[in-house]
Order: sequence, then C-alpha cells, then structure tokens
Amino acid sequence: MTKYVIHGGKPLHGTVEISGAKNAAMAILPATLMVDGVCRIENVPQISDVTQILTILQELGADIRTVNRTTVDIDCSHIRNARVPDALARKIRASYYLIGAMLSRFGSAEVPLPGGCDFGGRPIDQHIKGFSAMGADVEVRSGLIYAMAREGRMQGATVYLDVVSVGATMNVMLAATMAEGTTIIENAAREPHIVDLANFLNSMGASIMGAGTDVIKVRGVDHLSGGSYSIIPDQIEAGTYMAAVTAAGGEVLIRNVIPKHLDCITAKLLEMGAQVEEQGDAVLVRRTGELSRTNVKTLPYPGFPTDMQPQMAACLCLAEGTSILTEGVWDNRYGYVDEFRRMGAQIQVDGKVAVVEGVDHLTGAAVRACDLRAGAAMVIAGLAAQGVTEVSQVQHIERGYEDIVRKLSGIGADIRVVVTPDDEEAVQAG
Ligand code: EPU
Repeated sequence: MTKYVIHGGKPLHGTVEISGAKNAAMAILPATLMVDGVCRIENVPQISDVTQILTILQELGADIRTVNRTTVDIDCSHIRNARVPDALARKIRASYYLIGAMLSRFGSAEVPLPGGCDFGGRPIDQHIKGFSAMGADVEVRSGLIYAMAREGRMQGATVYLDVVSVGATMNVMLAATMAEGTTIIENAAREPHIVDLANFLNSMGASIMGAGTDVIKVRGVDHLSGGSYSIIPDQIEAGTYMAAVTAAGGEVLIRNVIPKHLDCITAKLLEMGAQVEEQGDAVLVRRTGELSRTNVKTLPYPGFPTDMQPQMAACLCLAEGTSILTEGVWDNRYGYVDEFRRMGAQIQVDGKVAVVEGVDHLTGAAVRACDLRAGAAMVIAGLAAQGVTEVSQVQHIERGYEDIVRKLSGIGADIRVVVTPDDEEAVQAG
C-alpha cells in the first residue's frame, strides 16, 4: 500500500511550479486522433490519467514519441477505427471524448461507458443528444456506446444543452470539427479548458468561434493538419496549492499560472483572510493571521469550481465561525466528510449543503483519499493538522496531481511516501 505520511503544523514557504491542466490535456490528447500529421503537445502533466489516455491512443495505432518530460509527439495518421479497449476506457472519465473525435474523423465510434470519480449519477445524455442532433444513431448496449453517422459524416446542427456540461460542450465541439456544415452549441460551458481545446483545434486548422462564451459556433472542415500546441496551466492544481497555504499558513509563490483563471478562488481566499498578490504569471499567497468564515457555492465557470470544493472545505474547517458550502454542480460530492471528522472537523451535510463549524485545530489521523480532489483536501488538512496524518488510496491523487509530494516538500512540507507490501486496494477510476 502506498501512503502519504504528513507531519503537520508547519507553515509552507518557497516557490512551486504548476503543471499543465489535467482537464485540458484529457480533451486535447484524444482530439489529436482527428489530426493528419504529427501533433507536438507541450506542457503535458505527468499524471496517471494522461498515461491512460496515451495508452488508449497507442492501442488504437497512434505513434507516440516522448520528446522530453512534458512534451509528446503524437501521430494518429494511421490510427484504426477500432473498438476502444474496455479496461483502459473505464479507468478514466475522458475516454468519452474519443466518441466525438472518432465520429468526426470516421463517422462511427464504439467506446465503453467511461469511469470517473463517484459523485452520484454522471449521465451522458447531453453528449448523446448532441450527437443525435448531428445525424448520428447512438445506442448504449452492454456497457458500450455505439455511435454511427447516418450519412457517413456528422452534419452541422444547432445543439441546445439542457445543463451546462463541460464534457458535452467539448464532445459536441469535437464531433462538429470535421462535420459537414456549421454547428451552434447553445448554453455551452465556459471553463478555461474549453477555450484551450478550441485553441488547439483552431491551431490545427479547425474553425471554432465563441469558446469561453455560452454560444460556440463550429464550421466543419475537411482536414486537420499537425502542429505544436502548449497546454494551459492547471487552474485546480494552482488553487489546491493556494488552499494549502491558506490552511497551513506561510508564504508561497505559485508560478506558471493564469491569474485570471484563479479569480474565483482568489476572491474566496481573500474573504477568509489570506493575501493573494498577482505577479505576472505567478500569484504570491500569504496567510499569517486567523482565518475568517465564509460561504461558498460551486457553479460552472466563472463561478467557484466544484473541483476546489473539498480543498476549500479543508480551509473552512479551520476558520472562525460557521461557513456554508453549497455544491451546485454534482449531486453527491461530500463523500470525504467522514474522513475530515476523523481529524476533528465539525461538518454536517444535508443534500447539497454542508455546514462547517470551524475548529481551533485539526488532529492528525489515518484517512483515505476517496477520490482525486477529496484526496488533495486530505493532504491539505494533514499539512495544517497537529500531529501525523496518513493518507491512503493515494492512487486517486496521482491521477491528477503531478509530483505532489516533491512539490510540497519543496515548499517545506514534511510529507513522505511510504510503501508497504500488502496492498489489496482497488484502483478506482475518476
Ligand atoms: N450532466 C448531465 N448530463 C450530461 C452531462 C452532464 O446531466 O450529459 C450533469 C452532471 O451530472 C453534472 C453537471 O451536468 O451535474 C456537470 O457535469 P459536466 O459534464 O460538466 O462534468 P464532466 O464533464 O463529467 C468535468 C471534469 C470534472 C469536473 C466537471 C465540472 C473532466 C475529465 N472532468 O466532468 O473534473 O468536476 O467537469 O467542472 O474534465 C476533477 O478534475 O476532479 C473532476 C471531477
């Protein structure tokens, strides 16, 4: 079993470098499937979800060459239109982007239903609604999604999304990129990674306008050709280090960020008493005094990100007074609360609302990472807690955080990886 052992209660000091954005990479890498020629992708995060998607592309026939630690050359010119391998696709959520990309390039796709962190239901009805509007027959049978463009090629259409969905917006964008005619996506999600996917596709020859607004227009093109593209920095990884400094105290320069993407997080940390100073492509976060309570509601971008909700809860556990957290995106994203309680946190959950009574201090305990962001929140709580915290099931954390132990050690955290031989833990997807 691999665990992180954290001796908490030490303020953080120094500089940390943010990696490329996981949720941008997880759409851009499958999108290379549509490109004829070599795509050089830079600032690729070294995380296990990226390894999974690259392995899937390789199994489908892509030629992948590692240029350096964060750069890969991907050539999908000779890729086959084969069924996506089941065991690999089920380990990650983003395998569903292969449906949009394969429909665009081949006019058909067979992809297993995706995995993903367990937040209650994670339907894909809006993806299917989009593909159907664009002339595909879509059927879900025996754990597989079968999609086939009736006219051999996807047809441009107007797609109104009933819910603001990151995945459906990107998937319809992919399916529309090489469709016949123009597609309009209404009520589109506006996350930075949606803009990044559009920028990547445009740099390879696509014609996508309006990404970052709630109406996206995609004029289908016949061909995409290779080129170079650098993935944006990870908003959530940066936010996680900002929360770590807020909870544990200290002063850390967080480099390679786009401060604008962090505004929604910065605003809440300022309300809690942290100081955040923008310095070009870095933010300096400082926290020396007591933390104040605040209320947080998660919403699609530019609202407060749901993927920062557990990390924010770790900070609120240590704030003076009662804070209200409202989860506005997922039905059930409080599965981690019992783990916090083991550390002395006072949290009551009722549906989508969590009431957090701040405590004077948290105490180290053995806790588990229930999923990716909950795992990051446990690490943050451990850094701020008195005593020793052991976080198990860290494979969830390593799906989305590059070198978290090395990065935290670099800013003064006392965190070690401990491997013991008798591990029967299931590696769950997310
Ligand atoms: N929804 C539907 N129908 C659909 C699609 C979504 O009802 O067809 C609902 C969902 O149930 C949810 C809401 O719409 O209530 C938003 O879901 P969305 O589609 O935006 O989520 P996703 O694309 O499955 C991505 C990220 C998640 C992140 C969400 C929201 C990836 C691989 N995953 O998921 O990231 O929480 O957007 O921002 O990009 C994470 O990184 O930890 C993570 C879970």
